[in-house]
Amino acid sequence: MSTEQASPDKYLAVRKDIIKVFPKEDYDDGSFAPVVLRLAWHASGTYDKNHKNGGSDGSTMRYKTEAEDPANAGLEVARAVLEPVKAAHTWISYADLWTLAGCVAIEHMGGPHIEWTGGRRDKPSETDCPPQGRLPDGGLGKDHVLDVFVSRMGFTVQETTCLIGAHTVGRCHKDRSGFDGPWTETPTRFSNQFYKQLLHNTWTEKKWDGPRQFEDEDGDLMMLPTDMALLEPPFREYVELYAKDKQRFFDDFSAAFLKLIELGVAKRGRL
Ligand code: HEM
Repeated sequence: MSTEQASPDKYLAVRKDIIKVFPKEDYDDGSFAPVVLRLAWHASGTYDKNHKNGGSDGSTMRYKTEAEDPANAGLEVARAVLEPVKAAHTWISYADLWTLAGCVAIEHMGGPHIEWTGGRRDKPSETDCPPQGRLPDGGLGKDHVLDVFVSRMGFTVQETTCLIGAHTVGRCHKDRSGFDGPWTETPTRFSNQFYKQLLHNTWTEKKWDGPRQFEDEDGDLMMLPTDMALLEPPFREYVELYAKDKQRFFDDFSAAFLKLIELGVAKRGRL
């Protein structure tokens, strides 16, 4: 961060400039907002509560080790669209910019407000990166989801089920993760559709030359094996709750996402 001081007015100006970079007619479903949300999550989701490292503080995805983690394929797109915002507001750290942009993306797509605060710093070198392989693998099942979210990051089962509901927006890309397609018919609208689709569609394994994933009857929508795991206990009761109660999903998501982007973030008299 430069010596220039942050202030509420300045953050507002950053938010406005972030919103300007989202619309893009010929990209995916017309918006960079989903991939920017994914950047905020992957910047944060490396946190290890046992080793007390990883997480959004440091913006270590600027360095090769983390940028080239196969789980982060495609996130160069999100980092690149935010570059003009960084150039216009050089005082903000990348770590703050990426997490703020994720929150702005959620709100911009009709989701809840997140009580984001600033104060993250950019760590200086490649050696600050967490090891590769900490982000979840969509091809695995329930035990893996519990290992990553509950044992390693420190979320409850309910918070975990809530966070994965972000798959209501965006899509999988064959050339990034190998998986293909969107989870809902409204991939730029933040809602509780993910849970509704998960519960009420009939999902069968897609027959194709690609990683194991599930498709609905029309073959338009998809679910990852980790998404399907949410239909089992201990997650299922929360899928049912959030499918029925959108406001509850929004309230819980707002709190869980704030916790996610603050994992491992040092309190420094933040704004
Ligand atoms: C078990 C946990 C999770 C797994 C295995 C997982 C896996 C994936 C995969 C494979 C993709 C497709 C990437 C691509 O091909 O471009 C994806 C996309 C996405 N994920 Fe997750 N994810 C998980 C949890 C989350 C969480 C907690 C969030 C946010 C709170 C999130 C937000 C997103 C978004 C917004 C996209 C769409 C990105 C785009 O449209 O480019 N995911 N996820």
